[in-house]
Amino acid sequence: MSLRDTFEQNTNRRYIMFGGKGGLGKTTFSAATAFWLAQQGHKVLVFSVDPQASLSDIFQRDIFGKGAVEIMHNLYAQEVDADSHIHQYQEQIRKKILDMYGLEQVPEEIEQYIQAASAEPAMEESAIFDAVVDIVVGGEYDYYIYDLVPLGHALYYLSMAKVYDEWINRITRLRQEMREHEEMVARIKREKSTEEDHILTELNYIKDRINQSSRILTDKQKTAFFFVVVPEEMIILDTEKAAQLFSKFDVPIAGYVVNRVLPTNLGDQDIPPYFKQRLSMQGDYLRKIDQVFGKDVVGRVPELERDVTGLAMIEKLAGIMYGNGRR
Ligand SMILES: Nc1ncnc2c1ncn2[C@@H]1O[C@H](COP(=O)(O)OP(=O)(O)OP(=O)(O)O)[C@@H](O)[C@H]1O
Ligand SMILES: [Mg+2]
Repeated sequence: MSLRDTFEQNTNRRYIMFGGKGGLGKTTFSAATAFWLAQQGHKVLVFSVDPQASLSDIFQRDIFGKGAVEIMHNLYAQEVDADSHIHQYQEQIRKKILDMYGLEQVPEEIEQYIQAASAEPAMEESAIFDAVVDIVVGGEYDYYIYDLVPLGHALYYLSMAKVYDEWINRITRLRQEMREHEEMVARIKREKSTEEDHILTELNYIKDRINQSSRILTDKQKTAFFFVVVPEEMIILDTEKAAQLFSKFDVPIAGYVVNRVLPTNLGDQDIPPYFKQRLSMQGDYLRKIDQVFGKDVVGRVPELERDVTGLAMIEKLAGIMYGNGRR
């Protein structure tokens, strides 16, 4: 099956992710895939939470923290600015405190607490997580292409969703029990306890969002996760390990795409022994990749003559990856 087939035979898929170790071509493949899908007439959003702003680099447009920006007809790109999300978070928390207690100003100790909490890495993670959830549950696009951060980090997000879910389940249960208890006491005292439980409502809201997003991420019909690999020994080993971990989190692995393949016809030309040697090594690793990942290898992408930046290069690569021509 070719990479193109994986799209054409699974038209229900709406969430596409490219994962892999650092620098192998995740952003490049995300952009080329988004370009091709847009060309096929689908409305596509390619997005990332990477503070490195690599989508800005590849599209040669400053889109960081600017929401979804139209790159061309049907193609939108978005780079989430985690820092500004943290500030929004802080504002929301302040507002909630003011509303709940009818205060005019946030008390000094609480303000200090909010500041300290925001410096925690967990706060950044949850702001990012929240932003991603917002994007994927939005539903305005035919395709969402998530340009992932390098592997370790992506796994961390996934595990965090599970941990969050557990944690919130537990708190919600506790809260529910407390609530029942309070109601019983109120009944005995013949008081009415009709006041809405804000905390429980809030917890249920967060829980719903997490469920919704992890359902999307692990939905075999709607989601496809592609590993980017290159023909190198360490990368093959690391990818194998990561794939095992990913399947533990029920991430539906749709295939492996091999990047940076040196054109094999180079070997027919009169090239220095050094290049001959590299080509023959590459041949070994390509065979190894086919052995290890088997029929899940859905494509080989050549090393181009220069970096992939700008729409013209993205179009060229999309043509190589998916075949030229509009529908
Ligand atoms: N097939 C290719 N031919 C030529 N250059 C390529 C190819 N694939 C990727 N590149 C270049 O390699 C560099 C790294 O690619 P890219 O940014 O897509 O990797 P990444 O996996 O997103 O990295 P990171 O882990 O940092 O997010 C870029 O400069 C890109 O233009
Ligand atoms: Mg990248």
